[in-house]
Amino acid sequence: MRRKLAAGNWKMNGLLANMAEVQSLIAAFPAPQPVDILICPPATLLGAIAAQCRDSAIALGGQYCHTATAGAHTGDISAPMLKDAGADYVIVGHSERRADHGETNAQVRAQAEAALEAGLNPIICLGESEAERRAGHARAVVEAQLDASLPDQGAFVIAYEPIWAIGTGLVPELGDIAEIHDAMRANLAARYGADAAKSVPLLYGGSVKPTNAAEIFALENVDGALVGGASLKAQDFGPIITALAASDGA
Ligand code: PGA
Repeated sequence: MRRKLAAGNWKMNGLLANMAEVQSLIAAFPAPQPVDILICPPATLLGAIAAQCRDSAIALGGQYCHTATAGAHTGDISAPMLKDAGADYVIVGHSERRADHGETNAQVRAQAEAALEAGLNPIICLGESEAERRAGHARAVVEAQLDASLPDQGAFVIAYEPIWAIGTGLVPELGDIAEIHDAMRANLAARYGADAAKSVPLLYGGSVKPTNAAEIFALENVDGALVGGASLKAQDFGPIITALAASDGA
């Protein structure tokens, strides 16, 4: 059965001075934990945090990977490099990458395949824009992204992140999160079979905070969260992890 996952996405934030936050998490959540805990720091901190997190309950991830393993791609980072630096996961297809770097569904899928090839667990992100939600197309948009962004096989995680909820303090109605997550599970079952679909952790992301985490985690097909702003401080991320560990089925 799938494990629940609390994943922190530090985005373009974090200096060596912020390592104390990681130390606090390691102290607060000694191994083993009933849920998986992940930090995705900027690539510059992977090595240092990997050294800190060795033998702890905290896993590490990258925030992006190139489709190639190596080559003339100045400024990019490959999946084997992330693995080599101590990562077990990588976020692919985050809406900020899709917007800032024009990443397409096909590229996201290729990145996920590159991640799997390197032994990393891809966290594949998708979600509708505010205009798409208003037009009543949220579910159709998410299903189209699922169809085009997921690899045909391999162990991956999916993060549903409505673009309008990221960093805004806005969160969909619980019923709307449930509707999308139920639809994602059904979509996976149709494509990969019921058993395989049950093994995929489905994360919600977008303004998850200590104050709203428990009610989101109580939804049947929500298996955790991808947390941005609230993952930067252990005093915020800690209660979110605790809420996930206390949720049904963890
Ligand atoms: P947020 O970001 O928690 O700051 O809204 C979530 C994300 O982009 O992964």
